[in-house]
Amino acid sequence: MPEADALPDKNFHEDVPVTSGGFFLKGSGAYDWGMKNRLARIFRPTSRRTVMLAFDHGYFQGPTSGLERVDLTIVPLAKHADALMCTRGMLRSTIPPESSNAIVMRATGGPSVLKELSDERIAVDIEDACRMNVAALAVQVFVGGEHETQTIHNMTRLVDAGLRHGIPVLAVTAVGRDLVRDARYLRLASRIAAELGAQFVKTYYCEEGFETVTASCPVPIVVAGGKKLPEQEALTLAYKAVNEGAAGVDMGRNIFQSDAPAAMLEAVSTVVHNGASPQDAYELYLELRRRQDRLSVA
Ligand code: R5P
Repeated sequence: MPEADALPDKNFHEDVPVTSGGFFLKGSGAYDWGMKNRLARIFRPTSRRTVMLAFDHGYFQGPTSGLERVDLTIVPLAKHADALMCTRGMLRSTIPPESSNAIVMRATGGPSVLKELSDERIAVDIEDACRMNVAALAVQVFVGGEHETQTIHNMTRLVDAGLRHGIPVLAVTAVGRDLVRDARYLRLASRIAAELGAQFVKTYYCEEGFETVTASCPVPIVVAGGKKLPEQEALTLAYKAVNEGAAGVDMGRNIFQSDAPAAMLEAVSTVVHNGASPQDAYELYLELRRRQDRLSVA
């Protein structure tokens, strides 16, 4: 008999029931361990929310303002974000593999800004996604767009591949030029994406009825920042979105086009994770920006 088995003082805690706890994230209870683990790398279990830093814009519009040199502008910010949303090209060429962020990999593409944007195809093989240890794949869906069915088909194929490998899919609801970003449209697009298998959905905030968008979507919604706003307005958008049911933000231009991107990212994070008011978060932004200015003068 091995020596350990002979010890008299083992404690099996027979009186303490083993917990078989549920999973903290909306709509994700039925998934396997690997999928849940990846989702828990994107969404903080303590707040059930995420701050994603998006800098994948180059995949259809080239070197966007603020992203001319991702190594200089984005890499130093990464430590303030939960997840990084990027292309595999930028990940491999520029993001240090020592990074501890969850990676949400842009997995569709094709047309540039010069063409019809909804004509996308799957752009990453699932094996390569595994090789890059991504936490999720992001796919653009154009509900109501010219290539609506094709983009939905891209998504369902990636959902199937993701389920085989434990990788969640983020459906990004792209709103075509002729469509209105109102609650009615956002409800439709988000719900379709969730019904067809996306594990989480990225969409836009709308002033009227956004809580009906989050309530009618059975999986978490993260909100895109959209075009650059004054910092206090962007913080207010984040505050309203999470208070009306969003599970966080996926912000790009409102971070990397800010005068003080690190300060802005920290301010957004305190809104999302700590429930700070837009005013308190803005004051934090100003204070951090002052410190940054003092450091750059010294
Ligand atoms: C579009 O280029 C991408 O999906 C972006 O990741 C997304 O729009 C978020 O970036 P922004 O906050 O700049 O809208």
